[in-house]
Amino acid sequence: MEHSKQVKILSELIRQLDEKVNVDAGVILQNPTSVYTCSDLANKEWEDFFQNHPQLVGLSKDLPEPGSFLTIDDFGIPILATRDSEGRFRAFLNACRHRGVRVETELRGKRSRFACPFHKWTYDNCGSLIAIPQEDHFGAIDKSCRGLVELPTCEKYGLLWVHPQPGSDLDVEMLLGDLSSELENWKFERMNYVGETTIDMRLNWKLANDTFGETYHFHKLHKDTVGRIFYGDALSYESFQRNHRFVFPNRGIDRVREQPRDEWRVTHGAVVIYYLFPNVHVALGRGNINLFRIYPHPKNPGRSVTQISHYFSDKLLEAKNQEGDDVPKLSPENVYDMDARYGALPTVEAQNEVIMSTIAQEDYAMGASTQSAIENGLLDHVIFGRNEPALHHFHNTFRAALDMPRLQEYVG
Ligand code: FES
Ligand SMILES: [Fe+2]
Repeated sequence: MEHSKQVKILSELIRQLDEKVNVDAGVILQNPTSVYTCSDLANKEWEDFFQNHPQLVGLSKDLPEPGSFLTIDDFGIPILATRDSEGRFRAFLNACRHRGVRVETELRGKRSRFACPFHKWTYDNCGSLIAIPQEDHFGAIDKSCRGLVELPTCEKYGLLWVHPQPGSDLDVEMLLGDLSSELENWKFERMNYVGETTIDMRLNWKLANDTFGETYHFHKLHKDTVGRIFYGDALSYESFQRNHRFVFPNRGIDRVREQPRDEWRVTHGAVVIYYLFPNVHVALGRGNINLFRIYPHPKNPGRSVTQISHYFSDKLLEAKNQEGDDVPKLSPENVYDMDARYGALPTVEAQNEVIMSTIAQEDYAMGASTQSAIENGLLDHVIFGRNEPALHHFHNTFRAALDMPRLQEYVG
């Protein structure tokens, strides 16, 4: 993000905090609860947003070098992603061309040959079938016609995209729209994968998504967790076609405002979250990124899985390696202690503590509570306030993509 934009966003957040005002969408909207429970809608979403729409599956360093591979099993189409010997990102249906078994079952690693566990048909990381055991017993096969089914891919701005349908168009510029140059500036391709975690809970995938849609709840629901390190009720919000940028201040902004503006960096005083349609949030902290990918359950509208991957900058990794045990590090015990946070290095353990104690046990627990309370159909709709513009945008975007009318304004 350009420095002038960073200063503008931080100034706006400081203004909101000082004037005790929040972002204002201007209207309250009504959202029918059926969008979280209806099986027909869930089937449409699964088809249009997950089976027939490009999927962001990671950052470039999820495949750090030639020979790296990654398997993805989140949206009904098992994927084997590779970086081939020329460094090219490729993706294949993870299904053997003999009898359809997954040729790779590990989540990630380094391998240039994939031997199917069933009868050991073997493929290279370009998807070519290179060996069939007892070929004379099996019968004549033209190996050149039995390679893994290849899927369209694109690696751009440090993001890895796969289209789940062979031969489909994958136009990342179209997907990112006006956000592409800003994302390019962050240089996501430099970020190193350091760990991951999964949340599998009983809430619709859009309820999981909605937890990323406002800061109104920070000091209520999160008063003992992230409410201690973030300011709630303040938000810089901008939408970019189907995507958005959502920036909210942490207590670091108290120090930032004392510094000369030339030195201001948005991630020193705030968290920046990019929402990328339909199911991805890229959360940027100071030298670290958490990538959230939220998936519906294919058969149950009341369940979803969120995959969270953590990435650290080179600088952060170097600092951790060089300083040994002398440098303060965040831990699950001190991650919500503002004094301990200054100058401390993030760790995967501390990140995971936030994911579990704030997101799973607080945010998603609210979504699960909503889910179980609305499945009876008695609560017709819920409402999204003027201070919740991201919720307006998410839902109107989902609806527009499925040719549904926009949400109605609430008139009290
Ligand atoms: S199913 Fe893969 S080798 Fe037979
Ligand atoms: Fe939250």
